[in-house]
Amino acid sequence: MPTSKRLNVAVVGATGMVGNEMLRVLAQRQFPSERVIALASERSKGLTVPYNGSSLKVEELSEAAFKGIDVALFAASGDIALMYGPVAAESGALVIDNSSAWRMKENVPLVVPEVNGDDISDNEGIIANPNCCAIPLTVALNPLKKMAGLERVLVSTYQSASGAGRALVDELEEQTKAIADGKEPPVAAYPYQLAYNVVPGGWRLEADGYNEEEVKIVNETRKILHDPELRITATCVRVPVPIGHGESVFLETTEKITADDARTLLGNAPGIVVQDDPHARLYPTPHDVAGKDEVYIGRIREDASTRHGLLLWIVSDNLRKGAALNAVQIAEQAIQLGALGAVKT
Ligand SMILES: NC(=O)c1ccc[n+]([C@@H]2O[C@H](COP(=O)([O-])OP(=O)(O)OC[C@H]3O[C@@H](n4cnc5c(N)ncnc54)[C@H](OP(=O)(O)O)[C@@H]3O)[C@@H](O)[C@H]2O)c1
Repeated sequence: MPTSKRLNVAVVGATGMVGNEMLRVLAQRQFPSERVIALASERSKGLTVPYNGSSLKVEELSEAAFKGIDVALFAASGDIALMYGPVAAESGALVIDNSSAWRMKENVPLVVPEVNGDDISDNEGIIANPNCCAIPLTVALNPLKKMAGLERVLVSTYQSASGAGRALVDELEEQTKAIADGKEPPVAAYPYQLAYNVVPGGWRLEADGYNEEEVKIVNETRKILHDPELRITATCVRVPVPIGHGESVFLETTEKITADDARTLLGNAPGIVVQDDPHARLYPTPHDVAGKDEVYIGRIREDASTRHGLLLWIVSDNLRKGAALNAVQIAEQAIQLGALGAVKT
């Protein structure tokens, strides 16, 4: 492994749901940092955010903030990533961006370390962190694809409020309290009331009735798996859960794979925990998976309506593996590959 120096790290959007989680993950994994700076909008300048048992003072995002930074973890909007990503890269930082702004650009690797970590080496200064449903989906699909080939994927998501940022998490709590108090729940952060409801939308509409999130899952899954022709479709639904996305997945493989073989294969695959014994009521739920690093898989069944069909229920923490953890794992793998912090000898 190449020798690496300790790194200066910037977290952009440090006051947000993902930014907060990034700071927690950096500290928990003892990321080899020399200095960590927290950046956010002008509104947050001077506030503090928790980091490693202490706190960091939030600085306003500016071009000058990236001076001397080795790795810039972006957890703000796509506009911010488009505006400041190239600035950070030009000043010598490796940018790892959580927004969707760079994900489908040709010269930008879109990386899930367990699946296509080697793509990191092809970067031109910016690496994209995939969508919070595409990450766990590809972690699950990759070993099955390698073992039996992948023909087709249908996915329905059950996405938590935190996937839409802090505003919806706060609103879900306010709505729940208002309903319990017999009051009219406030509805502002999402097009529909989320408490006591499920909402099959809320994302920007795209062509043919699909929404932005569904298109992202399709395109990003194909890019991560290096399978541009993969037959895949998605339906995205927001559910009144604070943290943790669920995905009901139907897939068809080229070769037959039994449910037992899939259970063993997935159980031995990196980053996956199989929790699958319906008789013992053992299957993953967002409530239990929130705060965990791995992708949890249960309800593994063969589909009797097709020859090579398999059904899975996937749950992962959207703020950790779906965002912050995956971004930090990319940085760690970049260090291992000598693409970040390498000391020339
Ligand atoms: N939530 C998820 O599960 C998830 C998963 C994967 C990817 N993502 C992506 O990650 C990004 C962050 O999501 P989030 O859920 O953490 O959102 P969030 O909770 O709404 O946080 C947004 C962050 O962006 C900062 N920001 C806003 N305007 C800014 C500006 N002009 N200059 C600098 N910083 C600015 C905010 O700072 P202030 O507090 O100062 O406004 C805040 O720190 C988004 O692109 C999102 O699509 C989210």
